[in-house]
Amino acid sequence: MAQSVFAGKRIVIGVCGSIAAFKVAGWVSELAKEEALVSVVMTASAREFITPLTFAALSGNDVHTGMFDAGKEDVMAHINIGRDADVILVAPATANLMARLAIGMADDLLTTTLLASRAGVLICPAMNPRMYDHPATRRNLRTLKELGYVIIDPESGMMACKEEGEGRLAEWDTVREYLAKSLSAQDLQGQRVLVTAGPTREPLDPARFLSNRSSGKMGYALARAAFRRGAEVILVSGPTTLPCPPGVTREMVQTALEMRERVLAHAEGCSVIVKAAAVADYRPETLHEHKVKKENIEKELVLEKNPDILFELGKQKKSGQVLVGFAAESKNLAEEGLKKLRKKNLDLIAVNDIGGDRTGFEAETNQLLLISRSGTETLPFTSKAHTADLLWDRIVALL
Ligand code: PMT
Repeated sequence: MAQSVFAGKRIVIGVCGSIAAFKVAGWVSELAKEEALVSVVMTASAREFITPLTFAALSGNDVHTGMFDAGKEDVMAHINIGRDADVILVAPATANLMARLAIGMADDLLTTTLLASRAGVLICPAMNPRMYDHPATRRNLRTLKELGYVIIDPESGMMACKEEGEGRLAEWDTVREYLAKSLSAQDLQGQRVLVTAGPTREPLDPARFLSNRSSGKMGYALARAAFRRGAEVILVSGPTTLPCPPGVTREMVQTALEMRERVLAHAEGCSVIVKAAAVADYRPETLHEHKVKKENIEKELVLEKNPDILFELGKQKKSGQVLVGFAAESKNLAEEGLKKLRKKNLDLIAVNDIGGDRTGFEAETNQLLLISRSGTETLPFTSKAHTADLLWDRIVALL
């Protein structure tokens, strides 16, 4: 499996005084497990909520607290901590920290570190919803964005103060993706890409449908990886329980006809289209308004052909657009893949062996046979996340 994007990276985490500070302890632990070199800087208020010892134990490094802790701290700590950082994460970021940073104050070790560093900075606000909504906080957020800080928006929900609204610290999955993005090559920057994922469901009546085994994992991994590499990502997804990957715009559909409608609406504006969805080739000819009683079910189901979305995309492909299809096959992989590449006017097809349980539908792992106009290549057997990255490497080369 591929090495973690965090391995060997110097990540400075600035922790402010908020009850959400305890969640960041878990994040430090996750990053340390992935072999990141984590240094934690705590404000005085943060130390009211959680002890430096917690972060020291989880990161395996000394925690930085005061600028003037003679003998303990490096005398140039305010310069040195941020100088070699690959990225700085401020979490939880309080209204107070953001206000001080927005006007360029450097009155403690964290703000001084932020001003003295040239590393990218991600800020995760967390506070009471009314504080977050206050015009002064909003103005400070705008200023910080203008200054180039990346703000990871808080979530909505019930707060520790028993108020409900926007202000909960972002979830780790989201923060992790933004951190990974900040450490990844932005070779899809400026590209708008469309990815399809999951199955389609073709209803017979309100209770029953025809579908297939696609879980959406392959397509979601592709969307996630594209965001990380700097693309603007639109994900048209069939039914799945997977959460929307951070930073991705997702549109959920049920049927092949709905998928066709959403895909064609976006296709023209996208430089890359990757169709990992397993679209049902047929739908029941009749859709019953009410559940058909079992005594009345016909023994033979009459089907109607669904449109081939990828074929239509191939016909209307504009110059410079890269069109990538998938093919789920259980035999004659190369032959079937080549036929589809030609018939659908694709630049690349990823043929997926669905014969076993370690590749294809539902599996966490995969192995793809890639066929393009210039030849074939078998990717290594690896996780779907790594497979997605390897596929994007090939697509970037085609762009
Ligand atoms: O979702 P997972 O559980 O992770 O599984 C991943 C996967 C096996 C679904 C995926 O890797 C994959 O192989 N997707 C393509 C499945 C498929 O529908 O293959 P196909 O050979 O039937 O179709 C070929 C291509 O035409 C596909 O890109 C498909 O999206 C497209 N198609 C097919 C039929 C149709 N009516 N419209 C289409 O656009």
